[in-house]
Amino acid sequence: MFTIRHETVLDIPAREALLDRCFGEGRFGKTSERLREGRAPADELSLVVERLGRLVGTIRLWHVAAGDGRPALLLGPVAVAPELQGLGLGGKLVREALARAAELGHRAVILVGDEPYYRRFGFSREAVGGLSLPGPYAAERFLGLELARGALFGAQGLVTATGRPAPLGAAELRETERDRGQTLLRAA
Ligand SMILES: CC(C)(COP(=O)(O)OP(=O)(O)OC[C@H]1O[C@@H](n2cnc3c(N)ncnc32)[C@H](O)[C@@H]1OP(=O)(O)O)[C@@H](O)C(=O)NCCC(=O)NCCS
Repeated sequence: MFTIRHETVLDIPAREALLDRCFGEGRFGKTSERLREGRAPADELSLVVERLGRLVGTIRLWHVAAGDGRPALLLGPVAVAPELQGLGLGGKLVREALARAAELGHRAVILVGDEPYYRRFGFSREAVGGLSLPGPYAAERFLGLELARGALFGAQGLVTATGRPAPLGAAELRETERDRGQTLLRAA
């Protein structure tokens, strides 16, 4: 009934439409976005949920350096179609992504999200106590999880993006269009 699989380039329009539905346009203003924009997600860590040929869930993880250069992943955005929320899909998706990340040898995951939701997967505020993000965020929403014991121990400083540059996809093209629109508006 539900399949979790790797995202392909053909999924991009449906993924972006789902993220718009779940987060609205405000999603592009988030500090986490500063760590994702212009970057490709981590290999094999963009997953989607498909139901009857329709994309109904998405999760992606991104390469970052946690403070002193130690490698970590940024989780997000994660979203499930509103009409299918509360059925356990989000939990399955997060657990699947974390299990795959661990199998691939990644050692730590950070995110900005609701602690009451993410603590069930082991995320905590304490894990990222010495770290900060490049922009405004609510401190109680900045969370971390060690996939390998001690991976975030003593981590201090700013989180920075380390993913390779992204090829232009639908989202990036749309961003470019928007930037171009703003440029034109300013020029008018
Ligand atoms: C958050 C989200 C991915 C969870 O997916 P889901 O399939 O609804 O989640 P599950 O069915 O696995 O889990 C449901 C449980 O999570 C809880 N939950 C969902 N969102 C929550 C939140 N923001 N804070 C606290 N608990 C939350 C539900 O109350 C429910 O609790 P229960 O198990 O005690 O009944 C989904 O609700 C969603 O897409 N929301 C909009 C986008 C979003 O907020 N993404 C997360 C960014 S922080």
